[in-house]
Amino acid sequence: MLRILSGIQPSGKLHLGNYFGAVKQHIALQTEGLCFFFIADYHALTTIQNPQVLRDNTRDVALDYLALGLDPDKCNFFRQSDVPEVTELTWILSTVTNVGLLERAVSYKEKIEKGIEASVGLFTYPVLMAADILIYRSNLVPVGKDQVQHIEMAQDMAGKFNRAYGEIFPIPDYRLDKGSKVPGTDGQKMSKSYGNTIEIFAEGKPLRKTVMSIVTDSKPVADPKDPERCTVFALYSLFATDAEQQAMAERYRAGGMGYAVAKEALLEKINALFEPARERRKQLAQNLDYVEDVLRKGAQRARAEAQQTLALVRQAVGMNPKSVGLPG
Ligand code: TRP
Repeated sequence: MLRILSGIQPSGKLHLGNYFGAVKQHIALQTEGLCFFFIADYHALTTIQNPQVLRDNTRDVALDYLALGLDPDKCNFFRQSDVPEVTELTWILSTVTNVGLLERAVSYKEKIEKGIEASVGLFTYPVLMAADILIYRSNLVPVGKDQVQHIEMAQDMAGKFNRAYGEIFPIPDYRLDKGSKVPGTDGQKMSKSYGNTIEIFAEGKPLRKTVMSIVTDSKPVADPKDPERCTVFALYSLFATDAEQQAMAERYRAGGMGYAVAKEALLEKINALFEPARERRKQLAQNLDYVEDVLRKGAQRARAEAQQTLALVRQAVGMNPKSVGLPG
């Protein structure tokens, strides 16, 4: 069975860019293979050094995914740090990873330019990510464009390891998600760092305020408008059927419709899609023991897989297949 894996950064509230870019695909994929979806809290340590923030963000992502329809009976959903074997594989992979390869990582350079401290952890971030992928012997990794280079590095490490020690790892493929097509309220790509997001779990007045703040041109109501150049239309299209999109595009071109009307239509779509998930999220938030239980069970299953792979790796490099202290 195809093994599908992706890591989710616990970086706070999910927005429409995350939803259409990643979450929606993850949820759709859970019936297409054996899925491993985890909250990347080891990775998050490279940027979050506040235990309360890390805990809160981790819980929030878990609530978000479960509320939006991730089914813990169909896939393995867990916290990365509940499978500590992945850090051991990180070490072993680092010994087949060229410094030059890591030095070419665009994401590392960008983070440093943004002022994030150049820690060793930030530098070897792609090795941990490769270990995430390889320890579950994943075949397919759905990711955003910004992560493609990291997947290519994982392919490189898997190939080098296999050439040195035998064919242990399948070479993982990536599948690009559609994140780049979701514009934020200012028309740039929707991103937390631009402060232009529309949160999935916003509702009521704050949500309305955000939607009404979407930047448009200043054509008067009577004028014909170009749907192709309008952020409101682009967002509306993500929710609408083809027929609804066409109908809306005609109203733009005909003139006589102000942008506020289009924004109302968008708001209705957002509410219709996410209202059930908002309710589920509120229930789950009252039931954190259940959420914890889900993550633990997911980790137990994932860990059994990770231990099997690690035993093969340890044996291949000339160690005891199982370390003396390791259960299972
Ligand atoms: N680095 C990824 C991101 O920022 C998250 C991640 C961690 C990941 N490990 C992974 C994604 C393994 C795919 C596979 O989005």
